[in-house]
Amino acid sequence: MKGIILAGGKATRLRPLTSITSKQLLPVYNKPMIYYPLMTLLQAGIKDILIIISPEYAGHFLQLLGSGKKFGTKFTYEIQEEPKGLADAFIIGEDFIDNDSVAMILGDNIFTDNLSADIKSFKSGGRIFAIEVPDPERYGVVDFDQSGKALSIEEKPKHPKSNYCVTGLYVYDNSVVEIAKNLKPSDRGEIEITDINKFYLEKGELDVKILHNDWFDAGTFDSLLDASNLVAKNQHLWEEFGS
Ligand code: TTP
Repeated sequence: MKGIILAGGKATRLRPLTSITSKQLLPVYNKPMIYYPLMTLLQAGIKDILIIISPEYAGHFLQLLGSGKKFGTKFTYEIQEEPKGLADAFIIGEDFIDNDSVAMILGDNIFTDNLSADIKSFKSGGRIFAIEVPDPERYGVVDFDQSGKALSIEEKPKHPKSNYCVTGLYVYDNSVVEIAKNLKPSDRGEIEITDINKFYLEKGELDVKILHNDWFDAGTFDSLLDASNLVAKNQHLWEEFGS
């Protein structure tokens, strides 16, 4: 399985912090933000990782992360010129993914669950990770029947059918590249990962796992602060991960 970290975007909500660097390079307690999603992939034994970045601060990523050797992995870099949507990762990553399956993680998502077993056991279709949140209307929302089977997924619904949001780790089989290439941009002009998830759901091939521990999308001032505090209190979760 290949890995992708999607670390482009404009990060408008974190200005002025992001007027001089990329969101995913900002500190979350004692490490740059991108280290945390990177660790989620490394824990799952993924040894070949594509890092997608915006042109502005590409050199900073290279300086920080290098070839990947110091993390026991290999990094490939691609530039996303414009933020066209999360699903664009699979179009930019087409050659890199080649004939493999892929785990794509957002560069501003911090998972405290060890998801190694759920990533390693993936066979086909799609696997996503949901968690209960107080403000589901900000995210992709998934609802379930009584047996826990996913029924629907909606992107930022005004009236969410559940409190479960889809988090920023997505594991797909190789067909994701063709699915992404056939997507039409949404009203906000992006190709939506929610549409990929709906595609797999409609085929009965989407598996939704529930997270048990804290998860952060560190893209706002408050969530960035919360993430730093959580990491400070739970250093043991990341201690194997050097500097
Ligand atoms: P968002 O937080 O949705 O977007 P953003 O980072 O540009 O921030 P803001 O809304 O404050 O302007 O993106 C989630 C993650 O996905 C983040 O790590 C950036 C990344 N991303 C890309 O790399 N390319 C894209 O086209 C999009 C939409 C997001």
